[in-house]
Amino acid sequence: MPYTIGLPSAASAFLSAGFATQFSVAVVICLVIVLITASLPPEGGDEAPKSLPGLPFLSIVPFFRQRYDFLNWGFRITGQSTFQFQLMNNTVIAVSGASARRAFFYAKGFDLTEGFKFLSGAIPMVRGVTSGIQTKRISTIHKRLAAVQKNASLSELIPAILEDSRRILESYGTSGIFDPFDKIYELMFQTTVRSLSASEISDDAALVARLKTLYDRLDTGTTPATVLLPWFPTPAMIKKIWATKEIYDIVVRAIDAREQSGVSRNDTLQMLVDAGDERLVVVGFIMGLLIAGARATGTTASWIITFLGGHADWRHKAKTEVESLLATYSDATMSSFSARLAEIPLEIWESQTPVLDAIIRETLRVAQPHTAMRRNLGPEVYINDKSIPSGAYVVYPFSDVHLDPEIYPDPWRFDPSRKEVEPTADLPLPYVGWGVGKTTCLGTRLAKIELKLTVALFLLGFDHVLVSGDGNTPTAPPKPNWNDILQCRPPHGACSVKYTRTAFAL
Ligand code: HEM
Repeated sequence: MPYTIGLPSAASAFLSAGFATQFSVAVVICLVIVLITASLPPEGGDEAPKSLPGLPFLSIVPFFRQRYDFLNWGFRITGQSTFQFQLMNNTVIAVSGASARRAFFYAKGFDLTEGFKFLSGAIPMVRGVTSGIQTKRISTIHKRLAAVQKNASLSELIPAILEDSRRILESYGTSGIFDPFDKIYELMFQTTVRSLSASEISDDAALVARLKTLYDRLDTGTTPATVLLPWFPTPAMIKKIWATKEIYDIVVRAIDAREQSGVSRNDTLQMLVDAGDERLVVVGFIMGLLIAGARATGTTASWIITFLGGHADWRHKAKTEVESLLATYSDATMSSFSARLAEIPLEIWESQTPVLDAIIRETLRVAQPHTAMRRNLGPEVYINDKSIPSGAYVVYPFSDVHLDPEIYPDPWRFDPSRKEVEPTADLPLPYVGWGVGKTTCLGTRLAKIELKLTVALFLLGFDHVLVSGDGNTPTAPPKPNWNDILQCRPPHGACSVKYTRTAFAL
């Protein structure tokens, strides 16, 4: 094609090009126009939060790829505790500070589902299954999740979670090195699938592995384009839609198999089927809660094993706590650690493990890179004296409180002996690890018991330390990377876990 200069020659070159070129050029031009026009900041008076400097569409990539740095930069560059930016034609307002925290978590009109749906984008929206779920269905799902966590059901899950953990930990052999962000994450995925789905799935290791690959595909396939232009068939979007369909098929196959067999099993699917819930509720429960549950528990457990590998003193304290529970509540003649741990009653796990509780709490403070997201479905409200119009998206990064050196001195240091900070009028909600206000985690009991059981079995079954990429012992565990919104994962190869099996059977 000849080299063309000027608009007329560009136009004639465009017209004489083939369809593929014309189509691509047209798409690129449309995208640029949409990006520029749709992301122009709204006009606003003194009450409007300050906008970020620079071209508005430049916020899109950093918001998804470098969120921690981006939000910190926004607060710094505007010099304000509230600022706004555009994601296409949507206004997003980031808020920080004590009074904003209280206002954000208690605002009547702020809606989590709507905020999460647009700003997270991990799961393609399948109407009626993962989106557009009627409020009534969501509340049924939440009711069933509460049923899974009643004393009797949760107690019955204890041996099943321990058996899954035993089988997976057994496969590690007598010694070796692993990356906790792969291996421990995998372990927690299995125990979460066990707790929230059907034995037709959780008994089949290959199917669980497939499911994990598919959920990973949803997470890693989330690009700015898939969130902002969900209708545009990018390769990433097509991959995500296929992954969602395959997950859907796996879940539906398990439900069909159960219904057709007529055999009743002792698991969560049975509870859902027996409750007579419509199929959309059952599928929505399993698909939706797996993504909410597996990622958070997997990330937390990976970091607990990492921190304990770098803090021999806390490792020792945690192991001693578990050993003393074993001595009091289990029969020492039993043949394995998992069998002995299963003897410890649920209420003891929940009330007599101050060390494990402190470790979980501190791990969530320092390595849970959550940004809470809402949409204001109510009328305009004011936060930090700035207007949050109806329809706007609002975000609050957990780092604002959990990494604030005024509240938690030396905030990056993992120190479970920190005193719990008491809320005061000036310092409301100093800890938000399990959510606060209108939205608290509805899976807390399940998550905590899963974490305690798997960590306890690991500590009893293995000795472990951290090793850095060069094979040496690092002076401290790696710093959590808050820009990684999924796992807070440090750079690949920065550190691994070196382990050897202890003598007694798992
Ligand atoms: C270590 C593990 C977990 C952590 C740290 C965690 C943390 C949280 C947090 C901070 C929120 C509030 C989010 C916000 O305000 O934006 C939340 C909400 C929620 N969590 Fe968890 N979570 C965990 C595990 C689980 C599990 C295992 C389940 C399900 C079985 C679950 C189900 C939910 C649900 C359904 C909500 C939304 C509640 C609502 O809409 O009102 N979570 N979680």
